[in-house]
Amino acid sequence: MSTSPTRIAVFGAGYVGLVTGACFAELGHSVVVRDIVGARIDALRRGEVPIYEPGLDDLLARNSERLTFTLDVADAIEGADFVYVAVGTPPTYSGDADLSAVWTVVDELPVIDRPCTVVMKSTVPVGTGLRVRHRLDERGLEHVGYVSNPEFTAEGTAVKDFMRPDRVVVGAFREEDGDGVAALHAGIDAPVVRCDVASAEMIKLAANAALMTRISFINEIANVCEATGADVVRVAEGIGLDRRIGPSFLRAGVGYGGSCFPKDSLALKQLAANSGYHFQLLNAVIEVNELQKRRVIGKLHHHLGSLRDRNVALLGLAFKPHTDDMREAPSLVLAGRLLAEGANVSAWDPVVDGIDLHGVRMAETVEDAAAGADAVVLVTEWPQLAEVDWSAVAQTMRTKIFVDGRNMLDQEMLRGAGFAVEGIGRAAAGGAA
Ligand code: UGA
Repeated sequence: MSTSPTRIAVFGAGYVGLVTGACFAELGHSVVVRDIVGARIDALRRGEVPIYEPGLDDLLARNSERLTFTLDVADAIEGADFVYVAVGTPPTYSGDADLSAVWTVVDELPVIDRPCTVVMKSTVPVGTGLRVRHRLDERGLEHVGYVSNPEFTAEGTAVKDFMRPDRVVVGAFREEDGDGVAALHAGIDAPVVRCDVASAEMIKLAANAALMTRISFINEIANVCEATGADVVRVAEGIGLDRRIGPSFLRAGVGYGGSCFPKDSLALKQLAANSGYHFQLLNAVIEVNELQKRRVIGKLHHHLGSLRDRNVALLGLAFKPHTDDMREAPSLVLAGRLLAEGANVSAWDPVVDGIDLHGVRMAETVEDAAAGADAVVLVTEWPQLAEVDWSAVAQTMRTKIFVDGRNMLDQEMLRGAGFAVEGIGRAAAGGAA
């Protein structure tokens, strides 16, 4: 291993690429991030961070002398020991992952005559690495290594997740290529799982599928709790203390969203189907999640009857707190359903800005969103919502219904404020509606 700083080119300046680049710079490597969007690169060069990710701006600023940004492929590849691929792999209509951005990177690689390793960070179907390997070989780049190094960072905690991961997965065709990528992570205290490329690709998809399965599982338990008078918050606590089960990802709510779970579940389902296997459990996980997003509507019907001309305030729009990401956010489905039923919808989110949710009135404050409302629905558990004076909010509402779609707030407190309260999977509460 050389003692001069390793040079890493990262293709893609999205969430994954920027976090990967910034964290590798923090670990002492020299990093160049390449993207095709000029405005994005210009902003990054000016020191502006185009996404909301806690800690990322500090990290980029602190390591600015080890980080450069470019639009130019040749610039990026010049002297690179590793070429990280961190481009988007969105779903196609068939549910397969769209790998066109990945192939563009592979095909754009110039002739490289030094040792260099292409590292896949993007989430790709099992078998992609082998196809990339063949494509590199066809182009006379047999000496260029290929490694799958999937990412497990979650939005909102990505920097911490990268620097303090539960594990690093390195799947390689050649031992020495894997050694190189494992060595890049020196300074990170985590077990390194070394395996073949296909297994590394599957670890990523299976990890997300396991997490989604837990969410849909607890959401179904929540729905049964509602029907039987049990409280899913207590149930989750009670089962989560079993060490074999563990407490994570047992928060019942309005379903999962985001840029990863919905996309990756479709990709895995499609990957299985393409191989002739019907992945029953995953199909159920996806269906439960779709239905879960709509359950809030049933709760509103229960209290208000028809929703025509009712005023409903959605609190929190991002698919989870601490991000401005609206991709596959349950709030989109909720807003769409409410508008389709003739309700007037207002919304508040502390970070999501400038988004045009057709027909939704965007409010600057929770109080403004809720004024005159018949019901408020807590969709995303932003911590700011714990600071709101709910008694004052209730005074301004037409009908005082509170649906806590994340079981975030204390129900007794809300009832004390005058609300009829519903959570997810909790015994329905009365109150002065
Ligand atoms: C997820 C995984 O957690 C990461 O490990 C993975 O790297 C990433 O996808 C990816 O594939 O790139 P992320 O989508 O950022 O990360 O967010 P999560 O924190 O996992 O939350 C996903 C969704 O599940 C959110 O809508 C959240 O509200 C929901 N969720 C999570 C629940 O409804 N209940 C829970 O108990 C946990």
